[in-house]
Amino acid sequence: MEDHQSQAGLQSRSAPTPMSLLVRQIRFEAVGINSFELVHPTGEALPAVTAGAHIDMHLAGGVIRQYSLCNNPGERHRYVIAVLREEVGRGGSRLMHESLRVQDVVSVSQPRNNFSLISDAKKHILLAGGIGVTPLKAMAHYLESTGEDYELHYCAKGQEHAAFREEFAAQVEKGRVIFHFDGGNPRDGLDIVALLAAHVEGTHVYYCGPGGFMAACAKAAQHWPRGTVHFEHFKAPDPVKSEVVSVDAISDATSDAASEVAGGFSVQIASTGALIAIPDDKSIVEALADSGVVIETSCQSGLCGTCKLRYLSGEVDHRDFILSDDEHLEYLTACVSRPKSKLLVLDL
Ligand code: FES
Repeated sequence: MEDHQSQAGLQSRSAPTPMSLLVRQIRFEAVGINSFELVHPTGEALPAVTAGAHIDMHLAGGVIRQYSLCNNPGERHRYVIAVLREEVGRGGSRLMHESLRVQDVVSVSQPRNNFSLISDAKKHILLAGGIGVTPLKAMAHYLESTGEDYELHYCAKGQEHAAFREEFAAQVEKGRVIFHFDGGNPRDGLDIVALLAAHVEGTHVYYCGPGGFMAACAKAAQHWPRGTVHFEHFKAPDPVKSEVVSVDAISDATSDAASEVAGGFSVQIASTGALIAIPDDKSIVEALADSGVVIETSCQSGLCGTCKLRYLSGEVDHRDFILSDDEHLEYLTACVSRPKSKLLVLDL
């Protein structure tokens, strides 16, 4: 895809050209989990990555899914991802399991990283829930190779559900990787509260897993100093059930809605001054696209940060699961977040 001049007079931000990679190996790793090894068809080195990076897989029917790279980030001859087949998911994992075959050539984005290790940390605590182990496995490989202090706690239902057990054997032996099997009841697994009870200066924690695991880690680490807690969601958390709302709150909401209908929300392109209305039923990305301003997207769920835009003024209703509080002061994810003030000026 080439950049094009938009109706709003702005050079659109197009995605870097995807790579065509060969599926060299598909391996059973655990119940419901297959790993996929991707290589360059002619053996060329792949773009360098850092631990925690992910790629987009472009699947049949225009389906795009993000998967963390789980092999040693020092390897340039291959990318390895692992996919848990989810029967009730959006269908991406089923496509991966049912459609991809060894020797297929697949379209893969350039790697991106929103979940990096902190380079000056004295110790790294990695907490994995189920298939959330993938980015943390890459981190463990990296930290093992650099000799930095780390421990990886890998929580799973049982041995048969834990991927990469053979690969982790040496690190298990050294006490670096610790498996926690709970038989399906998290209360019988890792005591995350106890593990994170005391923060030792210079220690950073990183976690990734399903919704309940993420919530448990977030709660257990809430007293840790700002900037020491890092996480990556692999799917959007379930919406919080609405609580009983007071009459005052209802009337506030009604007047907000009324003002939205009356005046509406708009974004302004700082470089051109173009004003673009954001209707209720469209995201900022969609409204910009209607005006010819194409913003690169990937997950479209506020998870990956691909559509991250800088804003210069205005208030934002942040609805993503990726940006930190500090980043929210300057950036928004245009696929899910919305203007909260009448006018939001975008640094485009
Ligand atoms: S496209 Fe992934 S956060 Fe917007």
